Amino acid sequence: MVPPGSDGFGPDRYGESFADVYDDWYDDVSDAHATAAFVERFGPSQRVLELGVGTGRLARPIADAGHVVVGVDASVSMLERFSGSDRSLAVGADMAVLPVRDGAFDTVLVATNTLFNLHTEAGQAACLAESRRALRLGGRLVIEAMVPGEPDPHLDRLVTTRSIDVDSVVLTATIRDDAAQQITGQHIQISEAGTRLRPWKIRYATPEQLDELADGAGLRLGDRFANWQGDPVTADSANAVSVYIAI
Ligand SMILES: C[S@@+](CC[C@H](N)C(=O)[O-])C[C@H]1O[C@@H](n2cnc3c(N)ncnc32)[C@H](O)[C@@H]1O
Repeated sequence: MVPPGSDGFGPDRYGESFADVYDDWYDDVSDAHATAAFVERFGPSQRVLELGVGTGRLARPIADAGHVVVGVDASVSMLERFSGSDRSLAVGADMAVLPVRDGAFDTVLVATNTLFNLHTEAGQAACLAESRRALRLGGRLVIEAMVPGEPDPHLDRLVTTRSIDVDSVVLTATIRDDAAQQITGQHIQISEAGTRLRPWKIRYATPEQLDELADGAGLRLGDRFANWQGDPVTADSANAVSVYIAI
């Protein structure tokens, strides 16, 4: 049930929608070992803060490489499935209000479009300001996010097939609002057992808009790549990995 006065898309919405299938559906959404190797570029034995840590898909290989990883996540169901190690732990918090000391981290990581789960510009700005506060001077905020395509009225309302097998189908229905820079979606799972809805909502931003928000938070763009392997960004890049330095 959605509480009166709420649109139902609170900070825990994404996690509560996907926790039970996250590892099955998204284990290979990106190369977790390449993410760990990317973080390793910044030096050994770092204190890493991962925002929206989820089940620990990225935190595990980063901790295995010798860093200490603290993860935050707003979803109880995701945190219940978090699997850590003696160098990684996860705590419940909204990534726009971080329960960490000033300057406690060398690196803050927000990967897999997770920043866009904050579906207002003000929420994303608050998250960047909190990331800056959590970083030591010279520390790095690394954001992995999609690069939004040009507005296209034919793509504003879509239903696509995510998966299909003999006893179930998963459809993805989306509405894109270009003025608000938001996409609202439902993954609709239909089987003999019934229908399961998995709602989500994001606010996308261009790399240039992220740079502007970061600038306002005391973070300066250092580098930008097309992926965790460090390939250069081109006009066709679907994703960007941006590295901001705390100034
Ligand atoms: C796309 S998943 C990414 C999980 C993990 N980082 C990975 O790459 O596999 C996004 C995660 O962010 C969490 N999340 C979404 N909004 C959040 C918020 N406002 N504060 C903290 N966590 C949030 C979700 O619960 C979910 O675990």
